[in-house]
Amino acid sequence: MSKTFITAATLLAAVSAIPHGGHNGTPGYKPGNGEDSCGQIILPMDDSVHGAAFNISLGTPAQTVTLLADWTWQTTWVDTPDCYGNYSVADCIPKGQNFFNDQASTSFVDDKTQITQSWLGTDYTPGLGFRNDFGSDKLCFHSDANGENLCAPSVEISVSNFTSKLPVIFDIGGVFGLAPVLPEYNSTFWPTPYQMWKQGILGSNNGWHMCGGLKDYSTCYGKKYLTILGGTDTTVYDTKKTVYHPTSFSPCLNSGPHLNLTPPRYNYWSTVWSGIWVGSTSYSLKADAAPAYNATTASPQCDPIDALAVWDQDKFGYGAAMPFAAFNALVSLTDAHIAYNNNTPGLFAVNSGNASIWQVDCAKVSSFPTLTYEFGHKQNITLVPSQYIDTSMYAGQCLLNARPWDRAIEGAQTFFGLTVLSRSHLEFDFATNMVGISPLNKELYE
Ligand SMILES: *[C@@H]1O[C@H](CO)[C@@H](O)[C@H](O)[C@H]1NC(C)=O
Ligand SMILES: *[C@@H]1O[C@H](CO)[C@@H](O)[C@H](O)[C@H]1NC(C)=O
Ligand SMILES: *[C@@H]1O[C@H](CO)[C@@H](O)[C@H](O)[C@H]1NC(C)=O
Ligand SMILES: *[C@@H]1O[C@H](CO)[C@@H](O)[C@H](O)[C@H]1NC(C)=O
Ligand SMILES: *[C@@H]1O[C@H](CO)[C@@H](O)[C@H](O)[C@H]1NC(C)=O
Ligand SMILES: *[C@@H]1O[C@H](CO)[C@@H](O)[C@H](O)[C@H]1NC(C)=O
Ligand SMILES: *[C@@H]1O[C@H](CO)[C@@H](O)[C@H](O)[C@H]1NC(C)=O
Repeated sequence: MSKTFITAATLLAAVSAIPHGGHNGTPGYKPGNGEDSCGQIILPMDDSVHGAAFNISLGTPAQTVTLLADWTWQTTWVDTPDCYGNYSVADCIPKGQNFFNDQASTSFVDDKTQITQSWLGTDYTPGLGFRNDFGSDKLCFHSDANGENLCAPSVEISVSNFTSKLPVIFDIGGVFGLAPVLPEYNSTFWPTPYQMWKQGILGSNNGWHMCGGLKDYSTCYGKKYLTILGGTDTTVYDTKKTVYHPTSFSPCLNSGPHLNLTPPRYNYWSTVWSGIWVGSTSYSLKADAAPAYNATTASPQCDPIDALAVWDQDKFGYGAAMPFAAFNALVSLTDAHIAYNNNTPGLFAVNSGNASIWQVDCAKVSSFPTLTYEFGHKQNITLVPSQYIDTSMYAGQCLLNARPWDRAIEGAQTFFGLTVLSRSHLEFDFATNMVGISPLNKELYE
């Protein structure tokens, strides 16, 4: 895999959504565990180059397809040997690439009611239109936690129909989307677990935590991440401490690196980001505090809104996002120095975004400031230094896993994920479009 080729953190699609307020923090809200089903499947996941991945079975006879689990993607997408009217494994699939052979599945139904989807700006196909058609097939999950299998006899999937083969081999054969769905969205935009909730197979609420920052991997069944479709693991967090936030479907979400697509999309799990403190010092998240702010190029629509955290569990979600002023203060307080200039967000365990990679003295880490993030004006997540210092990318080196964010250039939103959530539980509910955040139980990391 080419190191310079950034991929599918954020496969981007075509939606012309009417911005929708969602559920405004309904008081007394409790996660609906799918009123018509309490089905769930526990999916421990390993890392792929770009983030958490797992195997599903698709079609008849079953084919194993490895999928990147992506909160920012929508309908499950699989790479197929369809090439714009020509069907050829030899010509359309790079040798060694995992894929789904739709023509080898007796249960695959080509769905011509869905028009071809094509958009520009995806990280997956730079320079190529990301062109997909639709079909339906049988899809099964297998749990490495308890051996359970759970199948949907038929779900709508998106099948690649590129104009040529992908330029490189990916270590995934497709992307498993988990993005929120607005009521007016049709099946073109439905993630598989959303469809399985609608079919009464899965509950509507989904839980996630990662084990990379914990004492051991036991709560992820020996793997790095745990996703539960249709439920949550209430042994890792206290449900009384969960704070629920409505998802934003703001049009301001379609801007900035990796979220800027044509046609635009706004369906991401996202939460109002209302504050940041380095130690006890607060930094402004307002547009006019951004270095590149220029009144003549201001966005009257997006500048006045609260900043938005877009939750992203793959490697774009690494790096604690913060305004430049906070980043500069952190560099100074940690006495950090530039160690590498070749940063590649989305591929590495350190995501310093538009900045270089900064190194600190490992012996001083415990003296560094905490970072406090406030979400929705009602919940704080405080990171201790070990959560934002990476020791995994290069053995023996301590790197600042922080990412400066220039709101004037990147937009009102930015990615949040692995760094900020390393000691939190995240849940998202397709029935309510609410995101729930809870601290993981302390005994898991202390
Ligand atoms: C998927 O299955 C293949 C074998 O069929 C295995 O080599 C691979 O490690 C599995 N990947 C994941 C992410 O479980
Ligand atoms: C791929 O595109 C071609 C040309 O538009 C079309 O004939 C074919 O049916 C498409 N493949 C699928 C699986 O939809
Ligand atoms: C299909 O492949 C043939 C042979 O490579 C080529 O001549 C033809 O233009 C291709 N058709 C399409 C629609 O790409
Ligand atoms: C689904 O919605 C999209 C966008 O509104 C539209 O282009 C597409 O035709 C719709 N598909 C169906 C099957 O109605
Ligand atoms: C502000 O924007 C205007 C118009 O695009 C441009 O001419 C000017 O150079 C910008 N100023 C700064 C400080 O970036
Ligand atoms: C990255 O930072 C440089 C210097 O601060 C700036 O000129 C450039 O526009 C930034 N690019 C993005 C995408 O933020
Ligand atoms: C979050 O922490 C900051 C700094 O300590 C504090 O000022 C703020 O009130 C806290 N917010 C919440 C919702 O607790």
